[in-house]
Amino acid sequence: MTKQFAVIGNPIEQSRSPELHHAFAEKLGIELNYSKRLAPLDGFEANVKTFFDQGGLGMNVTVPFKEQAFAMCHQLTERARIAKAVNTLWIENGQLHGDNTDGQGLVDAIQALNWPLQGTRILILGAGGATRGVIYPLVQAGVTEIVIANRTQQRAEQLVQDLAGSVSEATLRVMTLDQLHGNFDLVINATSASLSGDALVLPETLQFKYAYEMAYGKPSSFLDQAKARGVPTTEGFGMLVGQAIEAFSIWHGVKPNLTDFL
Ligand code: ATR
Repeated sequence: MTKQFAVIGNPIEQSRSPELHHAFAEKLGIELNYSKRLAPLDGFEANVKTFFDQGGLGMNVTVPFKEQAFAMCHQLTERARIAKAVNTLWIENGQLHGDNTDGQGLVDAIQALNWPLQGTRILILGAGGATRGVIYPLVQAGVTEIVIANRTQQRAEQLVQDLAGSVSEATLRVMTLDQLHGNFDLVINATSASLSGDALVLPETLQFKYAYEMAYGKPSSFLDQAKARGVPTTEGFGMLVGQAIEAFSIWHGVKPNLTDFL
């Protein structure tokens, strides 16, 4: 029987994971089927159990189920434990294992662009799940200072408090979103502001050399403002490919080459 994989979410129609995993499989000569599963908001766990009971080998998890996936796992990787969110599931020795490949996906995408990370200062806009997932991998890649600015300041403070102990090699700080200032190597937009059509304002008091928008395929005032500064910019398709490659390599033991799929 063909090996079965899937991505589960709600909504799920927009997911590009099936096309990516099929493209990796074709390139590496692996036969698999990767489908989309729409789970009802109150039916995530049951859907995951059915999938694995029916012989499924691996699942990706997307919005809004990454925290529920985390809570379900018997075994977690270090980075999933720190992120408190899981986007990759598989069964090993009869136990449900969970990893979070989003952060490494971002790191791989940034490195594929030859943007520096070692010894850098980064500003991250947003303090939701997307930010939580990338901090530890960024510090592992050599980032030495991360400043987090969020609309709801208290959420940024909570995130720093939660994560500081796990990334003691780096400094984590909070800044207010309406008083952005200072010099950064890289600024990352991890808010969903562009998705809701709202504009984030990047004032002249804020200087940066590179700008990364985690969303993709949508208009982004963040990217427009960064482009107007003349700095290199990119949107989040590379991160999507990067996280998919990491999941693929967990399941199949071989790693597709990121730049072949950008
Ligand atoms: P995700 O998992 O994508 O991070 P999330 O946990 O809902 O999703 O977090 C969304 C992030 O985008 C939060 O940082 C949110 O700010 P708040 O914590 O203040 O809600 C941020 N965000 C969403 N819409 C925004 C907007 N219009 N302007 C600024 N920040 C926004």
